[in-house]
Amino acid sequence: MKGFTLWFTGLSGSGKSTLAQAIEPVLLERGVMVEILDGDEVRTNLSKGLGFSKEDRDTNVRRIGFVANLLSRNEVVAITAAISPYKSVRDEIRARTANFVEVYTECSIEKLTERDPKGLYKKALAGEIANFTGVSDPYEAPENAEIVVNTEQESLEESLDKIVRSLELMGLIPPGEDNHTSPEEEVVIRERLQALGYL
Ligand code: ADX
Repeated sequence: MKGFTLWFTGLSGSGKSTLAQAIEPVLLERGVMVEILDGDEVRTNLSKGLGFSKEDRDTNVRRIGFVANLLSRNEVVAITAAISPYKSVRDEIRARTANFVEVYTECSIEKLTERDPKGLYKKALAGEIANFTGVSDPYEAPENAEIVVNTEQESLEESLDKIVRSLELMGLIPPGEDNHTSPEEEVVIRERLQALGYL
């Protein structure tokens, strides 16, 4: 079994942690070892004291990449869930990580502001939080992510199925018994992976 890094990137509240938590039992069932490096958790341990300047975010994200690489080269599936807003740092980690799979959790600011479970968007829009990603700080969406889920349009199950099916097609996990992917979705997934040279 190969290890790999499943790298979620997306705005705060876009579903990175939810999907990371949801995919863990599916992967365990397929016989792989899994570790989740969640943004908020990393910030209370590995990256305690770091803020949200570009420099601090880059340091935070590089640390996550370093640990993910250690895990995935030892046959563990490392799932990361940090905003990781800068493309260059993500690509730097991609370049030195075996089997780097990027998952973009796409969601509009309008929807995130509506969801806003932590009340952060409201504060950021009112100018009470400086450098808030997507509001007053940049987010550079990936152009060539292996997997794109739109958490505004898809249910959690649909997004999850898309990720699992992509990993199966990439040969990173053994196929499961029941495949919920619709024929239309299967085409979309295959086309993306083909364009990236995986199939
Ligand atoms: S990253 O940019 O370094 O990848 P990370 O995922 O660790 O970010 O942390 C993001 C979380 O920190 C958000 O989900 C939110 O709860 C909180 N947060 C606090 N301040 C900010 C800010 N200025 N921008 C984005 N998120 C913030």
